[in-house]
Amino acid sequence: PSVSTTGMRRILPVDMVERGRCPFDPPPGLRGEGAVRPLDLLNGARAWLVTGFEEARTVLSDARFSADKVRHRDATSPQPHKPAEMEAAVAEREDGLFVFMDPPEHTRLRRLLTGQFTVRRMRELESRVTEIAVEHIEAMRAAGTEADLVPAFALPLPSLVICELLGVDHADRAQFQARTAVGLNANSTPEEQAAARAELYAFMRRLVAGKRSNPADDLLSGLIHAAHPPLTDAQLVDVALVLLNAGHETTANMLGLGTFALLEHPDQLATLRADPGLIDNTVEELLRFLSIIQLGVSRVTTAPVTLGGVDIPAGATVVIATPEVNRDPRHWPDPDAFDLRRSRTPHLAFGHGVHQCLGQQLARIEMRAGLGELMSRLPNLRLAVPAEQVPVRDEMLIFGVRSLPVTWS
Ligand code: HEM
Repeated sequence: PSVSTTGMRRILPVDMVERGRCPFDPPPGLRGEGAVRPLDLLNGARAWLVTGFEEARTVLSDARFSADKVRHRDATSPQPHKPAEMEAAVAEREDGLFVFMDPPEHTRLRRLLTGQFTVRRMRELESRVTEIAVEHIEAMRAAGTEADLVPAFALPLPSLVICELLGVDHADRAQFQARTAVGLNANSTPEEQAAARAELYAFMRRLVAGKRSNPADDLLSGLIHAAHPPLTDAQLVDVALVLLNAGHETTANMLGLGTFALLEHPDQLATLRADPGLIDNTVEELLRFLSIIQLGVSRVTTAPVTLGGVDIPAGATVVIATPEVNRDPRHWPDPDAFDLRRSRTPHLAFGHGVHQCLGQQLARIEMRAGLGELMSRLPNLRLAVPAEQVPVRDEMLIFGVRSLPVTWS
């Protein structure tokens, strides 16, 4: 299930969706008093919003907050599960959607997956990521001195990295990218999205079948080999789709919005250009400052809880306002400043606790290589339109830019 493409305007007050004057600052409605507060949704349901850093960390590490939205009703879901489906699901879960599982169900799949994100595989991927970044930048240069960075760079890079990870054949990659692009295009119709989802599912089924009969050195083959008892085809397809959903749109938006943020902070960009060793710091500060997963991390309470002095009943949806959490003034001095020399304080852009981002190492590699190569290979990189004309994806669970027209010389 891809919640990331769900429009938020249908269930949230407009000031919690639309950005104010600065596209990098959280929507004005997320700012304000109280680390935990009730949130009345436009569909009549009530949720709880968490904007404090410590409170968010509690939600993500306390077992009374469940990630299992198959068993527990989630008020922010536009189509709550039908009761019959829920009863079937409560008995036994046979899917591989481990993002929506609690321990111990989550633990088995997570361990299997962690076993595939080995140091060796990440090291090999790192050189492929750099090659893919360089190929795309050189193609942009060969075509002229202007490009839209989103389709030319930010979207294909993480998509091809997932192809590498899953072991998608080169001949099938164009088809894979075309299918995934529909789902991420805010202008595609629900019918187009449903058709693309079905095709992607069928694509993953064929991929899994291929890995069973013809294993190679990739994550899916590794999972097939390592799991005892074995994972079903349906579980393997779910896992592949989870990796795609979690790893593509997120990283693509960090690349697009991250570039925009760097170009809009020329003093910081100059600092980075003068000292490329600051790239790791830059990546961490971009993750904190941009916190692109706007309201996409949520949990359901399994018991009444008091959090930040506020009583929350059982069965309530608790939404982490990550952009605001990562600007908590109790945690960072001058939190609204973008400062790549900031001392490294842990942020929550990758979450926390048992579900903390499985792909964070890979995401960092992609940002380091992607942003680093862009800045070093495109001299005098700048926006090709005034900053106010850059269209942002404010109604998406994952924030970013729809397009980023840039020029260089
Ligand atoms: C989980 C952020 C890139 C795979 C998460 C979570 C966050 C996050 C906040 C926790 C969700 C929750 O607790 O409900 C990001 C950001 C990324 C990124 C900001 C890019 C900059 C990636 C990549 C991959 C990936 C590249 C893999 C290819 C996953 C998976 C989970 C996850 C599988 C679920 C882990 C679990 O439930 O145990 N990510 N992520 N992510 N991420 Fe990422």
